[in-house]
Amino acid sequence: MSENQILIAPSILAGDFSKLGDESKRMEQAGADAIHIDIMDGHFVKNLTLGPKAVAAINRSTELFLDVHIMVYNPFDYIERLIESGANRITFHFEATEDVEEILEYIRKCNIEAGLAFCPETSPTMVTSFLDKCDLILLMTVHPGFGGQKFLDDMLSKIKLTREMLDTRKIRRGGKVVEENPQSVPPFPIQVDGGIDDQTAKKCIESGANNLVSGTYLFKSPDPRAAIESLRNPL
Ligand code: DX5
Ligand code: ZN
Repeated sequence: MSENQILIAPSILAGDFSKLGDESKRMEQAGADAIHIDIMDGHFVKNLTLGPKAVAAINRSTELFLDVHIMVYNPFDYIERLIESGANRITFHFEATEDVEEILEYIRKCNIEAGLAFCPETSPTMVTSFLDKCDLILLMTVHPGFGGQKFLDDMLSKIKLTREMLDTRKIRRGGKVVEENPQSVPPFPIQVDGGIDDQTAKKCIESGANNLVSGTYLFKSPDPRAAIESLRNPL
């Protein structure tokens, strides 16, 4: 992965739920890097979505990396089943548990990637202690719970600050501290999720994000290949 590589993960929440497999395949054929699957429990956020069976169904229909974003309390209770269903990365919320470090460690022990998500109102200083303990930081750019919301511009400074902290501490992919020649290891992934289109993608990339989730913009586009490209290389 080159320094500037931007990965795109369409959020299946915006797809047609009567054909989750076909929708995932459609994004794979359009050049997506992963499928982002939102799991909500009706408590941590006021919405209900998909569960492990849907993850398994998506897994059967695409070769893509499955990026599972769980907006649930007690994240630990769901990890095993999600991994059995084919999750390649599980990203849970900092705000949902007091056992953040234990859960990150457990997910990694299961040989998949561990991501940590932060709601818009959570201070960027909270991110600091976990940068070398996870594989991805997800900075929510809307309040979690629903697709189709407006991007929160205030989150750009949080993205910038997180990238600066990573650079200062020389933390690269896998949360590794690379003292000698840090550029030789790919950058640490900062993911953004919520209200991402070609305009907001540009601002996020400029601020230091390199992993973009997008639902409404990609699934409603008549030309998903061009739409994915417009996120990867916004004008
Ligand atoms: C919101 C979800 C997002 C959502 C993004 O809670 O985490 O993944 O599906 O959808 P858009 O791109 O429509 O904001
Ligand atoms: Zn999400």
